[in-house]
Amino acid sequence: MSIRTILTQEDPTLYKVCHPVTRFDGRLADLLDDLRETLTEANGVGLAAPQVGILRRAVVVVPDPEKDEMIELVNPEILAQEGEEEDWEGCLSLPGMWGRVKRPKWVKIRAQDRNGNWFETEGADLAARCFCHELEHLEGHMYDEHADRLYTAEELDEILANEEGQGGKPKKRRRRR
Ligand code: NI
Repeated sequence: MSIRTILTQEDPTLYKVCHPVTRFDGRLADLLDDLRETLTEANGVGLAAPQVGILRRAVVVVPDPEKDEMIELVNPEILAQEGEEEDWEGCLSLPGMWGRVKRPKWVKIRAQDRNGNWFETEGADLAARCFCHELEHLEGHMYDEHADRLYTAEELDEILANEEGQGGKPKKRRRRR
């Protein structure tokens, strides 16, 4: 296993459509292991293969940051979605920036595991946001396309501090995808 370099905004690889995974072999296992290790090192909640320069439809996500359980999605597809929710979103490929993005409140996903077995999973709120964000990477799209503007970490801290001052709930530290 090794930690791979996470590509950032300027890299053209991030804007390409990824190919389906057709071989469920040792190379795929190595890629998924590296994605896990790289995501853990970056303390993020999701990472897609194109973010490390591999144009294959594979992602790892942490649907519930409280549990720190990571799941692998190969050739993932959205089967169903419901509702809409706007919240802050960040990306390991857009370091230091944050934006508000509307995503479905709930999604149901179908994907293959590293052995090629299909399974279904679903997620609401943060998990739904994370699934949608990662699947979009596989299409060569990034969240900033949906955000009216991007904010720096300092601007975000100030906004969240103001919300707390006005009786809003204290916000946990944001983690990127
Ligand atoms: Ni991202």
